[in-house]
Amino acid sequence: MPTAASRGLLAAALLSLLGNTAAHSWPEMTMRLAPNGTMVGKPGFDRTHHVRGSIPEDDIVWLLPPNGRPDGKVIHPDDKIARPDQRKLDGSSYNAEFPMLNAAPGDFVALLYTENGHVSAADVAKPGKPINRGTVYLYGTTQNDLSSANLADIHLTWTADGTGGDGKGKLLATRNYDDGQCHEAPPAAGDREGIITFRKKAFPHSNDALSCQSDLQIPLNTKIGEVFTVIWVWDWPTMSEPGIAVPPATYNTTSTLGEPHVIEPQLYTGVVDVKIVDPCDDSLGAVKGPTCGNASGTFVVNFAIPDDYSHAGAKAQMLNPFLVKVPQAGLGVSSATPADTNSIPLGGLVGNAGTFSFPLPDAILAGGGRRKDRRQVR
Ligand SMILES: *[C@@H]1O[C@H](CO)[C@@H](O)[C@H](O)[C@H]1NC(C)=O
Ligand SMILES: *[C@@H]1O[C@H](CO)[C@@H](O)[C@H](O)[C@H]1NC(C)=O
Ligand SMILES: *[C@@H]1O[C@H](CO)[C@@H](O)[C@H](O)[C@H]1NC(C)=O
Repeated sequence: MPTAASRGLLAAALLSLLGNTAAHSWPEMTMRLAPNGTMVGKPGFDRTHHVRGSIPEDDIVWLLPPNGRPDGKVIHPDDKIARPDQRKLDGSSYNAEFPMLNAAPGDFVALLYTENGHVSAADVAKPGKPINRGTVYLYGTTQNDLSSANLADIHLTWTADGTGGDGKGKLLATRNYDDGQCHEAPPAAGDREGIITFRKKAFPHSNDALSCQSDLQIPLNTKIGEVFTVIWVWDWPTMSEPGIAVPPATYNTTSTLGEPHVIEPQLYTGVVDVKIVDPCDDSLGAVKGPTCGNASGTFVVNFAIPDDYSHAGAKAQMLNPFLVKVPQAGLGVSSATPADTNSIPLGGLVGNAGTFSFPLPDAILAGGGRRKDRRQVR
């Protein structure tokens, strides 16, 4: 149960998260989730947290491939997966104001980020982007030093069973960047697409904007005392045509027989650490870890509709680790595929050739893939 103090902290942190309008996204805050989806306890933060606006955003986000590369927008084999000040975990990575989250083995954790128009105004600004607004891949490892970790050695390489690539970590989950609820504050120019107005009603909350989230489950086999490092990778390519459901699980820009393909890879990453504590630890507050008092305990999701969505996890994410099926998850697909036609929040736009009538009709805003996913990337 969150205390009044921790509620206040969460509210203050959320407000500071949502206070600025800006162009970029990265995981900024972490919260534990109770079995009913409510955020509990005190917030944690990302590795070497920077408050929005305290330094230029280009120094906070890690864009791959970077701008201005002589050979163009291509990923190099030695492109590091993390920005320089997020590579090492040391005494300067966290502090009393922006601490690391404590969680127990088997716990659910929400990583919060702001969408900055990539959801609320995506079709106006960038019609060539996939309808799920890109796929977030969540990778986990107990090898905390990422100094020599390359994007290509991890992204689309580590697998859910931990055997992929160098085997130093695993794919924990895939999420639609648009979590189906989040939105920004209405911009001065107005809510052209209608997404903000619709979601404010459908997912009531007390702020002007609602953070997006990527939820994940800490593996049950993590050991008390270790630090579990999560790498958040937002795969957000520009496609050769509008209306594509999800990015293909590749950054290969070569076209095969007129198939839709990536024309420009664009990825952003962020690093978040979680201190694994005893499942009965006092620091967890009233809601303990799933194995507290029951060595064979597991996290059983029993989602309750929240009265304020800014204090809750995302139900679909708590129920399904792979909302985008990818080959690396061992689900028998050869390329990225939505978990089902209704799993993409604005799935009704799949196959739309880029001609939108705004505001979007309620049938599309209400979510799901009412039209068949006829132009999925294979
Ligand atoms: C969810 O669980 C938390 C922690 O046990 C509790 O404080 C809260 O009231 C519950 N919320 C709902 C909507 O059931
Ligand atoms: C990219 O895709 C093309 C067409 O499928 C294939 O021939 C080529 O080998 C791929 N390149 C890489 C680097 O995977
Ligand atoms: C321990 O947890 C398991 C898995 O959630 C559950 O089936 C079992 O009933 C629990 N045992 C007790 C004594 O609560």
